[in-house]
This record gives sequence, structure tokens and C-alpha cells, in this order.
Amino acid sequence: MYIRKLIYAAAAALLITPAFAQEAPRLGATPQMGWNSWNKFGMNINEDLIKATADKMVELGLVDAGYIYLNLDDGWHGERDEQGFIHEDPQKFPSGIKALADYVHSKGMKLGIYSDAGWKTCGGCAGSFGHEFQDAYTYAQWGIDYLKYDWCYTENINPKGAYKLMSEALKATGREIWFSMCEWGTAKPWEWAADIAQSWRTTGDIWPYFDTIPSEFDGQWHGDPVMKLVDLNEPLRVYAGPGHWNDPDMLEVGNGSLTLAENRSHFTLWCMMAAPLLMGNDLTTMPAEVLQILINKDVIAIDQDPLGIQGLRLRTDGRIEYWFKPLEGGDWAFCLFNRGAEDTVVNVDWASLRFTDELSGLTFDPAGCKARNLWDAKAKARKTKGVQKVTVPTHDVVLYRISAK
Ligand code: GLA
Repeated sequence: MYIRKLIYAAAAALLITPAFAQEAPRLGATPQMGWNSWNKFGMNINEDLIKATADKMVELGLVDAGYIYLNLDDGWHGERDEQGFIHEDPQKFPSGIKALADYVHSKGMKLGIYSDAGWKTCGGCAGSFGHEFQDAYTYAQWGIDYLKYDWCYTENINPKGAYKLMSEALKATGREIWFSMCEWGTAKPWEWAADIAQSWRTTGDIWPYFDTIPSEFDGQWHGDPVMKLVDLNEPLRVYAGPGHWNDPDMLEVGNGSLTLAENRSHFTLWCMMAAPLLMGNDLTTMPAEVLQILINKDVIAIDQDPLGIQGLRLRTDGRIEYWFKPLEGGDWAFCLFNRGAEDTVVNVDWASLRFTDELSGLTFDPAGCKARNLWDAKAKARKTKGVQKVTVPTHDVVLYRISAK
């Protein structure tokens, strides 16, 4: 009798265990953090740039803050040899990728590389089609720790098959390699890739404008503004979790025409969405105020929270958005985001914000809690009671960590 009860209890526990409470995966327990060459440098990359970036990541404390992946994007490639093995561009990487990996590893970081499931990469270099196992083997030999796998030149190729093939090729190397799918969300990878990759792009490319791209720009499509990617990625929260993350593309913090407030909002919303934090700016010339955004450990902790629950936009009042993210230990992140063009005073009626998140089953109940403003280190934590007037400047955020302690 007792044994039967025990079995029922165990079965019930298994059935009701929510996805976020399952055992943490070895790779991808939290979203990836690092730097990628594409947003700032495009195809113009070389070993001096990558080594200088590695040095800066250590010197500026970015590695200590968690940014451990240093990822080459498109443009590192040379030719395939007669046996079909890929080589690096000998002009751009004269010491070879293996030597670069050794250098990056000696700094306590990991090296990422880029390829494409089709005939060619988006920038016209050799793709991996027909060479999947051979390329995975080469990357492992070089000491690569991360592969971003793109989707250009893939006419008539089945996405599930193509990504599963490379996933298996990477696993067959025996090396732990993060698999970052870059299929832009076209075939809804969130519905089928949780066992294939650690992350999948949910959107097309990012372009460093906030809400709209000005009409006087060159007229060609380069990518979408930050807010469009937020709108595409936010509804997909049910699919994200430890080991398999939604990726609304890399950060443009510090790039293009984004203001400081916009940089802060972009970074904060990526953290609220448990998105990959892959910097894409020139670290060697980065202004101090941009570094202060990228290195805010309290905000990074929201992104990297061990529960791994993607946050939600619960409500929108005019141009003010209310974002929430459940965190470990009963804490919550609460973010007010002003998408509009006017600075706005928000009356935060704390008690009225109580709600239960359907996905996690967790309840946000601010009664008796404290709110710590994560972008204002000097502000004292305040009690979450009554009605509080909070000014949210245009395109800016106010971000709190709410806790009972
Ligand atoms: C695609 C990807 C980008 C970048 C470029 C490289 O557009 O989505 O992130 O990797 O290719 O050519």
C-alpha cells in the first residue's frame, strides 16, 4: 500500500514538474554570452582584430562578467582542399584558426566559428553542404567551442534534416560545441529543434535602429530595428528554457544610431527575454557609458537566472510596457519600458500588479517586498506598497529586482 502511494506520488511529481524545474543541461544551462564579429565588422575580420578583442574582453572585465564566447562570423574562410577540407583565409588568419583557438583559450575564453547549411555562406564563402561531418571534425581539431550555422543558399534543402545532420556531426566529434541555429525563424525551429541546438534565431537580422529605419537610408534591406525583433520574439517564451533558447539576434549595443537610453532598453529587454548576450560592437573604442551597460552584473543576472524562464510583456498602457520575469528564490524582475517619444510619469500601483504567470505557475505578489533599481546603483531599495510615481524617459527603461528579503 505504502509503496503504491509512493509510486503515485513520484508519478504525480514527474507529471507536474514544469520544464524550468528539470535538471540543468550540461551545455546551455543559461543563454550564451560573448562577442561576435558580424554587427560591426562584417566580412572584414582577421586574427589581429580577434586577438585585440580577446585582450579587451579580459582587460575590461567582460570575461569575468560572463562573456566567454568569442565568435568569428562570416568571412574567415579560405578554400577547400582536394579532399574537401576547409581552410582559413591565409591572409586574414596567417597563424591559423588552431593557433587563434589556443590564444583565446589561454585567456579563459571559448572560440566560436560560423558556417552555413547551404552551398555558400551569406557572404559567399564555402558552405558546409555535403561536408558536414568533415567540417565538424575540422572545427573540433582546431579547438572550436561554438558553431553558428546559417541558412543562405539552401534552395530545396529540408531545414530539419540539415540542422539535425550538423548537430549529429558536432556530437560525433566528442567535443562540447554549442550549436547556434541561424535559420531566422522561417521554419519555426522553436517547434522542433530543442534536441538539435542550444539556441535558434527567431528573427531576421538586427540593424542598429530602435523602432523604425529612416526612409532616407540606402533603401536596401539590411535588417530590422530592435523593437521589431522584440515583438517577434516575445510571444515565443513557451519554447525557451535551459538548453534551448530563443535568439532574437546579437546585440547592437554601442552601434549605429542608438542613443544611450536605447542601448539600455535594448540590453534590458534582451535580459528580460533570456536572450543570448552576444556583443557586436568595437570593444577597442567603446565609450565608458556603453561598457557600463554591458557589464552591469545585476542586469546580466536577470538574463542568466538559473530558472531560465523567458520573461513576458504583461501589459501595455499607451506607450508604456510592463515586463516581468520570474527568478530563482521567489524574486522577480519588473521592467517599465517607455516605447514612446515623450518622457512619461507612471503611477505604479504595486498591489494592482499581482498576477500569476501561466507558463511557470508562479505568482508575482509584491506585498511586503522591496524593489531595487538595477540601473541606479545609488538608489536605495524601496518598499513595494502604495502608489509610486516613476519617471521613465523616452525609449528608456526602469528595471527593478523585486524580492521579499
Ligand atoms: C546572415 C545572418 C547574420 C550574419 C550574416 C553573415 O545574414 O543572419 O547574422 O551571420 O548572414 O553573412
